[in-house]
Amino acid sequence: MNLLVVGSGGREHAISKKLLESNNVEKVFCAPGNDGMSLDNIELVAIAETDKVGLISFAKEQAISFVIVGPEVPLLEGVVDAFEAAGIKAFGPTADAALIEGSKDFAKQFMEKYAIPTASSKTFTDYSEAKAYLDQKGVPIVIKADGLAAGKGVTVALEMEEAVLALKDMMLEEKFGDASLKVVIEDFLAGEEFSLMAFVNGIEVYPMAIAQDHKRAYEGDKGPNTGGMGAYSPVPHISQKVVEQAVEEILRPAAKGMVEEGRYFRGVLYAGLILTDEGPKVIEFNARFGDPETQVVLPRLESDFAGLILALLNDEKPDVRFKAEGITLGVVLASAGYPNHYDKGNKLTGLNEISADIGVYHAGTKQNEDDDFVSDGGRVLLLVKEANDMTEARTLLYPEMQKLDNPHFFYRMDIGTKAE
Ligand code: AMP
Ligand code: GLY
Repeated sequence: MNLLVVGSGGREHAISKKLLESNNVEKVFCAPGNDGMSLDNIELVAIAETDKVGLISFAKEQAISFVIVGPEVPLLEGVVDAFEAAGIKAFGPTADAALIEGSKDFAKQFMEKYAIPTASSKTFTDYSEAKAYLDQKGVPIVIKADGLAAGKGVTVALEMEEAVLALKDMMLEEKFGDASLKVVIEDFLAGEEFSLMAFVNGIEVYPMAIAQDHKRAYEGDKGPNTGGMGAYSPVPHISQKVVEQAVEEILRPAAKGMVEEGRYFRGVLYAGLILTDEGPKVIEFNARFGDPETQVVLPRLESDFAGLILALLNDEKPDVRFKAEGITLGVVLASAGYPNHYDKGNKLTGLNEISADIGVYHAGTKQNEDDDFVSDGGRVLLLVKEANDMTEARTLLYPEMQKLDNPHFFYRMDIGTKAE
C-alpha cells in the first residue's frame, strides 16, 4: 500500500514512521510534512493540509490506499468528508463529528445530555453576563475559548484579576478571533491528569495505552499553557481500574452519543481526563491523536498499525495491542519564548550526535540551503526513549536533550518525574 498522512508536526512524523513499520506498506507520503521526516524515508508532498482539491488529486494519482488526517484544523474543515466524497478511504472524523473538539460549548452540552462526568459550566456570548457569573463563582475558575486555539485557549485563574483579564482578552479583544467570542466558564477541578485515546468506529471503542502530557511551559507545571512540553506512556500511578472506569463511563457513552446525535465518529477520540475524588472527569475531548502523546503511545503499539487502521476503515474488528512492559518518555525541545513570541530560523546544534536508540520526531524544523536543520516553529522536536522504568528513561534521555542545548531553545527538566 501507498499511504498519505495529512499534517506537519511531531504527531504526523510518529504516525508516518509507525505506518512504515507495516510489511504491507510501501510508501508513506506526508502533506505537507516537515523536512526532518525525510530522514525516516517519509516522502514530503508540498500540499497544504486544508487544500482538499490538491490532496484528492494527489491521492488519486498515487493510488493511495488510505489517508490519515492528523490535525484538528483540516478535520473541522471537512477534509475527511471531501476524501470520502471522492471515494478515497480516510481515517478521521467528518467535520460534523469533529465538532466534539471544535466547540467546547457543544462538547459541554453533549456531556450533559449523555451524563458524561465533567466540570459544571456555563457558556456566554455577552461580556457583562460572563463577568457577573465570574463574580458570583469566584476563584479558582477556568475560562475557555469555545473554538480552536492551538491548545492555548484555556486560562486556569487562581486570582480574580487573572480571570477578568482572560475574559476581557477573549470576549472584548478577540484574542483568539472568532474562536473566543463564545466563552465557557467552568468549575476548577483538582486531580491528576491523563490522556486516554481510543480508536473509535461508531459505537466500537478500542482504547490505547494511556499517557500523561505536560501542558505548562515551565518546570513544576508553572507558566502558560502550551500545546504540550513532553509526555510519557503508560502512567503507572493511574490504576487499570480507573482506566476501565473512564472507558465505560466516558469513552463508550461518548461514542454512542455521537452516533445518536447523527455525528457518527470514526477516528481517534481523545479524552483529556482528570482523576477527581469522584472519579475521572473530562477536561476536554479532541477528535484526533494527541500531540505529543502520540509520539510516546504509538511506539508502544505491538500490532500492525496500517492493518489496524484499514480494519477500522473496512468496519472490521482491528487488532489493537500495546506493550505491557516498560515505559516510553518524550521531551520537547521548544523555541525560547514559546508559547508567546519566538524567533524561527535558529540552527539546531547537536542533532547529529543523538544516539541511534533515541526516537527523534521533528515538529517545527526545516533544512536551510546548507542542509542544516533550523527551527521553524514553537515546538521544534521531541526526543523519545523507551526504558524499563521512568528513572532509567530519564537517566538515558536527558543527556541526549543536553546535546541539543543552545540559548535559542529550552526544554523542561521534570518531564516524567511523577512516574518515578
Ligand atoms: P484544555 O486545553 O481544555 O486541555 O486545558 C488545558 C489545561 O488547563 C488542562 O490540561 C488542565 O491542566 C487545565 N484545565 C482545563 N480545564 C480545567 C478544569 N476544569 N479544572 C482544572 N484545570 C483545568
Ligand atoms: N496534547 C494535547 C493535545 O494534543 O491537544
